[in-house]
Amino acid sequence: MPTTADRLTFFTESVIREMTRVANQYGAINLSQGFPDADPPPEVIAAGKRAMAEGPHQYAVTWGAPRFREALVKKQRHWMGLDLDADVHVVVTCGSTEAMMTAMMTACNPGDKVIVFSPYYENYGADAILSGAKPIYVALHPPDFDFDRDELHAAFMQKPKAVVLCNPSNPSGKVFSLEDLTVIADLAKEFDAFVITDEVYEHIIYPPHRHHYIAALPEMFERTISCSSLSKTYNMTGWRLGYVIASETIIAGARKVHDFLTVGAAAPLQEAAVTALELPAGYYDELTRDYTRKRDLFLHCLDEAGLTYTKPQGAYYVMVDCSEFGVSDDNEFCRWMAKEVGVAAVPGSSFFHEPVNHLIRLHFSRSEEILTETGRRLRKLKSLI
Ligand SMILES: Cc1ncc(COP(=O)(O)O)c(C=O)c1O
Repeated sequence: MPTTADRLTFFTESVIREMTRVANQYGAINLSQGFPDADPPPEVIAAGKRAMAEGPHQYAVTWGAPRFREALVKKQRHWMGLDLDADVHVVVTCGSTEAMMTAMMTACNPGDKVIVFSPYYENYGADAILSGAKPIYVALHPPDFDFDRDELHAAFMQKPKAVVLCNPSNPSGKVFSLEDLTVIADLAKEFDAFVITDEVYEHIIYPPHRHHYIAALPEMFERTISCSSLSKTYNMTGWRLGYVIASETIIAGARKVHDFLTVGAAAPLQEAAVTALELPAGYYDELTRDYTRKRDLFLHCLDEAGLTYTKPQGAYYVMVDCSEFGVSDDNEFCRWMAKEVGVAAVPGSSFFHEPVNHLIRLHFSRSEEILTETGRRLRKLKSLI
């Protein structure tokens, strides 16, 4: 019998999806897999119904339907402060997941090195393996998840082709400050590396923190491959709409990779999502207010349960420190917690390259009722240990 490819041995099945199965097994509240329980805005759903009735139903232009690209560029010109051209600077992809893979395959030759900050969103390891790149991990040190400039410099000394920047960051909730981004940008310029961003949480930021686009820093547009999606901003993770924004040269390459990976994102959904991209500024203000309320409620629940955590600056995850429970195996702890406490989290070790086993990740993109019920269950945690 023929054997399957060697590359499969280098990555395991997603721990997050495994924890979802565990949550279902024990009927636990599932705060492991990070998707919102809210629907897209009603006008976007209405546009979806219209698109289904009226089309388009056939392939869109592979790099994105013109109306979608125009609406996206109009929005991103405002937020990124860049003079973008819808015909030149964009590829529409099947989520940020495909955007990131497209970016890696566009930037890297097999054997190239890529800096990945650890803890990291699990896809980046697989993206590197599938594109033949070798990750160099640079620690974001808990509890503040700051990087050490000397460690980052040492990683750049290994001549990476690119650095992957998840900002705001999953799982840590870190928002890279302008100063952080300037350090990274200066190193990328000095060592002639690409910056590949994953900015899916660009609109989920807790004031006074602000999202800065590294692509907009001086001389960075030419070397930055900005990836993001509509998944989190408009509660449409299942629509699979994302994009790459970059210079004309990079996009010319990315279009080819994307064309052969997926041909294109769903045509009727691109049509309908124009309505989302055209939502007024107030939508983003309300999104911030809504998530700030959720974050504050959930952190209050964690306080009441006497838990120690790092306050998230962006995204909708919180890393909780379980070292006081004598946890040495966070996988076991998360299974136990799902069964006995009824709350499913992700073991932090699945995000770290370093041997970190005392953190678990919970997400709080859930209704206030569910977050309150989670708090009630977590208050039992200490008495059960
Ligand atoms: C950092 C990060 N990037 C990408 C994704 C997936 O995004 P998309 O639905 O656009 O593929 C997620 C989903 O949780 C994420 O947390």
